[in-house]
Amino acid sequence: MEEQKQRGTFTNKLGFVLAAAGSAVGLGNLWRFPYLAAKYGGGIFLLVYLILAVTFGFALMITEIALGRKTHLSAVGAYKALDKRFGFLGSLACVVPFIITPYYCVIGGWVLKYLTVFVTNHVADAATDEFFGGYISQPMAPVIFFLIYVILGLVIVMLGVEGGIEKASRLMMPILVVMTVIIAVFGMSQPGAMDGVKYYLMPDFSRFSATTVLAALGQLFYSMSLAMGIMITYGSYMKKDAHLEKSVRQIELFDTGIAFMAGLMIIPAVFAFSGGSEEALGKGPSLMFVTLPKVFESMKFGTVIGAIFFLLVLFAALTSSISLTETLVSILCDKLKWGRKKACAIVLLFVIAVGVPVSLGFGPLSFVAPFGMSLLDFFDFISNSVMMPIVAFLTCIFVGYVIKPKAIIEEAEINGKFKVKKFYTIIIKYIAPVCLVAILAFSIMEVLGIITV
Ligand code: PFF
Repeated sequence: MEEQKQRGTFTNKLGFVLAAAGSAVGLGNLWRFPYLAAKYGGGIFLLVYLILAVTFGFALMITEIALGRKTHLSAVGAYKALDKRFGFLGSLACVVPFIITPYYCVIGGWVLKYLTVFVTNHVADAATDEFFGGYISQPMAPVIFFLIYVILGLVIVMLGVEGGIEKASRLMMPILVVMTVIIAVFGMSQPGAMDGVKYYLMPDFSRFSATTVLAALGQLFYSMSLAMGIMITYGSYMKKDAHLEKSVRQIELFDTGIAFMAGLMIIPAVFAFSGGSEEALGKGPSLMFVTLPKVFESMKFGTVIGAIFFLLVLFAALTSSISLTETLVSILCDKLKWGRKKACAIVLLFVIAVGVPVSLGFGPLSFVAPFGMSLLDFFDFISNSVMMPIVAFLTCIFVGYVIKPKAIIEEAEINGKFKVKKFYTIIIKYIAPVCLVAILAFSIMEVLGIITV
């Protein structure tokens, strides 16, 4: 009870939705979703993603928020409080943000670089095919931009102006949405783009594979900040009078809507400006950075629009990486009983120590290629395709068979009805665990070369 009194709560219902959505919307939506959709067959990826969002995503988000709200504890303590044997699951979930944060900041550095490219009017250079690859393989510049990005985040936290950044980003987020629509409409009006619209919206079932499902699932977790303890912490700050089911639907709709628009902005443009070949679509992490400058170059006032766009992306990235960093700091404070200053310093050193090699992984360290992946792809794979499905699976087992779905349903029904509780129970007890194991097994076998899908 003491704990409950001390813990702050979100002052209003919308406040909770906005804060959770603020953490959810970031590079995952704008940068990661489009490149995965492009790579994994367009429409089929989108369809699988949407199905997963309204089933797995919905069930897992309700679960995590309810666990936090019920226990008033963050991930480390929440599982333990409900069942001692599952304390390890909280710790396991907490490892994920440690893997994500450094490489998230590396991409933040790329965004910062592109902002400067547009501000200094070098759009024509950036619109060439070689620019991005040439840039990230340099030994110095990407590391410097990464460091500036990290320091920028740190200064914001030290000045205690995260709140200001959140507020600014709440203002900027709607502008970002409007700009995404404008850029998407422009891109779609270019010759050849309609093939891209078709590719993105019409599922080609022959492209369906276990890898598609795994990629979509990992993206869902990443984008909605699930299976990493974050939503548990958010839930612990949530007041009892908010309607859980409704809040979760709102967050999901918002997050998925932005990801969908980002895909519409980038994929048709790939067809219009780069021909939509397998190679152009399979660019991976570089897709947004290679495609958008081409769009802006051919647009009237493209330099200004591009500069504003990358500034908005920078804000979305900063709010996300700040909340990731805050998570790391609070994990260290909670678990190791460190003071905040010490925890901040260690987190900073950690992010730099891991982020620098990740950045160099495209240049001087490109010979380090675990399982044939770049370091960034490797960390991304370990967190999204291995750790998060494992955390999600164990969470399903924990809720389905240890504390029982009723515990979550009761929490969700404190304020209003939980309309789809049967559906929820079936997913959490049967469908999700079985699918998660199957997907995980397939993907590990694929990486190890045992099967080719
Ligand atoms: N969900 C964010 C994105 O899509 O970019 C990433 C993220 C941000 C994960 C903040 C976790 C978090 F705490």
